[in-house]
Amino acid sequence: MPVAEQTWGSPVKASFLASSVGRKIVMAVTGVVLSVFVTVHMLGNLQAYMGATTMNAYAKFLQESLHGGGIWISRIVLLVVVLLHAWAALSLTLSNWSARPQGYRAQQLQAATLSSRTMRYTGVFLAGFIIYHLLHLTTGQAHPAFVHGDAYGNFVRGFQQPLASAVYIVAQLCLGLHLWHGVWSFTQTFGWSHPRYNIARRAIATVLAVLVAAVNLSFPISVLLGVIR
Ligand code: HEM
Repeated sequence: MPVAEQTWGSPVKASFLASSVGRKIVMAVTGVVLSVFVTVHMLGNLQAYMGATTMNAYAKFLQESLHGGGIWISRIVLLVVVLLHAWAALSLTLSNWSARPQGYRAQQLQAATLSSRTMRYTGVFLAGFIIYHLLHLTTGQAHPAFVHGDAYGNFVRGFQQPLASAVYIVAQLCLGLHLWHGVWSFTQTFGWSHPRYNIARRAIATVLAVLVAAVNLSFPISVLLGVIR
């Protein structure tokens, strides 16, 4: 359907968010913000390898930046970004289902990678994981021995529970798959899909996905093995 016809209001002037191109751009821009967030968060968490003093000082710095306002600004921005990302994904999925001709799905499955085929499932799992993660390491309701202000102790005691570590391990595998196809897709939305750039796009997607997933996987595994204690 031509973009100009996909409007909520005027049939001539296309609404940005009603068009599939507009929703793909929302998806891509929010995807970039979330990719940057998970990368920075992963780098910040590396402080766990430097011990309790370093990690707790870093957590205190995050809590107190801009007189305590910095963390709230980031929380609100992240919440809006996650909601927009989920809304764009859901509405594009529903449009695809209603527009897809018979037989197309079989063709698409042949060409798709595991990562692209599982985007919806990994996305839904990650949404659930984020809620669990906040209740586990930020507010403490899902933590067996949470102590306010002791990010390091909460991290270690949290991952000493095999079930909690298992949830994090599955979530990081989902994150790696989701990031891999996500980076590949947003670079396509931004128009970098060209034989000349495709090798670089694939390399960036692979390095980022493997790096973030591997480093994040190392946290629960290191606690379970007693490397971090
Ligand atoms: C093994 C992987 C991860 C570890 C070890 C980890 C660790 C942590 C820790 C220790 C905190 C609390 C910091 C504090 O109390 O100051 C935290 C908060 C948070 N994490 Fe993670 N995280 C991981 C993965 C993720 C992922 C994949 C996401 C998002 C997709 C995420 C999103 C968040 C958010 C939104 C907060 C809340 C920040 C706040 O509002 O205070 N984390 N994480």
